[in-house]
Amino acid sequence: LEKIAVLTRDCAGVNAAIRSVVRTASTFDIDVIGVLKGYDGLIDGEFIPLDRRSVSGIINSGGTILKTSRSQRFYKEPGQEQAVKTINENNIDGLIVIGGNGSLTGAHVLATKYNVPVIGIPATIDNDVTDVELTLGADTAVNVALDALDKIRDTATSLERIFIVEVMGHSCGYIALNVALAGGCEEVLVPEKDIDLDVVCKEIQEGNKKGKVSWIIIVAEGKARGHDIADFITNKTNLETRVAVLGHIQRGGRPTAIDRLLGARLGNYAVEVLKDGLTDHCVNFKDDKLFTTPLSVAIQPKKIDVSNYYRLIKILT
Ligand code: F6P
Repeated sequence: LEKIAVLTRDCAGVNAAIRSVVRTASTFDIDVIGVLKGYDGLIDGEFIPLDRRSVSGIINSGGTILKTSRSQRFYKEPGQEQAVKTINENNIDGLIVIGGNGSLTGAHVLATKYNVPVIGIPATIDNDVTDVELTLGADTAVNVALDALDKIRDTATSLERIFIVEVMGHSCGYIALNVALAGGCEEVLVPEKDIDLDVVCKEIQEGNKKGKVSWIIIVAEGKARGHDIADFITNKTNLETRVAVLGHIQRGGRPTAIDRLLGARLGNYAVEVLKDGLTDHCVNFKDDKLFTTPLSVAIQPKKIDVSNYYRLIKILT
């Protein structure tokens, strides 16, 4: 390998991973170029050279220094073909893609359909990459959301109100479940589980009779809109509700130690396995061990067992 490129999505820990990729590659005398604006930049050949110095001072910053995009063009063949042409014209021998489901699906296409040597680094706040215990960015997102929730709780208890807090997660309840459990919330609504809202309303009313007046309900955006849940509860119970939509604050922020360490380890390992000739896999870390997982597996919809979360939330609230 003489020259590799790195392409990213944004979430906390991605910059730590870029830094690790660049500095590891430099120890093998491999040149690294950064692809600007995700797959759009790959199609358009928007690159910047990255050396050891250009990645200093980024280990503690959120987002991605390379900027990103949700490229519509890369979904279609002409966009993919143009990207491969750019890769060849720029003598890129390998690509490291740091991102979630969409980005890793793109990486899988490049590897299988166009024979581009590609290694993925799972990075998404949703933590919905199959067979990956923890993706980059998920720990920071949970901590950011938890911090916001703690502040909302101050008002919820002071005013004895019902709060609905909408968190991110379009098809996966990871953030919602972890925030609910770690934040001591009464109820959580996620795409993976059907919950009868009439029963929730009944519980609220019964609790209310016994003097329990403040409730915090977490809802994952992919399950329902916080405002719709609030309207439903108010209509059924006649009790006042308030809504907080946490939105993109969850994707930003300074990476936690866990995300920085993961970024450092996965970035380093991604270069090593790419150099050894592996392709169409993502790097992975569990039980203090680094290993790889085929992209074809990683991009399958992730199934998480939500029953333990629900069991514990019920016991603890
Ligand atoms: O996949 C990460 C994520 O933050 C999801 O939780 C969320 O649904 C989505 O991205 C939002 O996408 P965008 O930033 O393009 O609005």
